[in-house]
Amino acid sequence: MPNQTRRNFIKTISGSTVALCCGGVGMGILMEGCTTIKQINTTITNNKITVNKTEFEGNKFIILNNDQLQTPIYLNKINEQNYAALLMLCTHKNCDVKPTGSFLTCPCHGSEFDNDGKVLKGPATANLTAYQTQIKETTIIIDINQAIKS
Ligand code: FES
Repeated sequence: MPNQTRRNFIKTISGSTVALCCGGVGMGILMEGCTTIKQINTTITNNKITVNKTEFEGNKFIILNNDQLQTPIYLNKINEQNYAALLMLCTHKNCDVKPTGSFLTCPCHGSEFDNDGKVLKGPATANLTAYQTQIKETTIIIDINQAIKS
């Protein structure tokens, strides 16, 4: 499936909670049982995305969509004070990566990344692009102009 088609699909289902249950058939995603993926449409103001912490009720991670983004951002809650905001774009040849629940996988050539964006398995050799986050009392602010080098 071409990248643009997958992106349009993600945009179509964005703003909702999507339950994906598959064993890697069809979508090429290795899911650990049934995983619910919450996706929200976001706004970007001054290169920042603000997400309410309440979005994480019942979710360890959420996917943030915005037409200005090259691909969605995977926002993973590590703990109350630490969140990883990762561009869902494989560093090997720019396919969209998919969350499995415990890691991200690339359907194109099989690279895998941990929930902090670090390469677990190639052919990708570079970590996913991660953005700086600022944790406030009730929100997480992602600065999409501040990619963290790794
Ligand atoms: S594009 Fe992701 S592994 Fe090749």
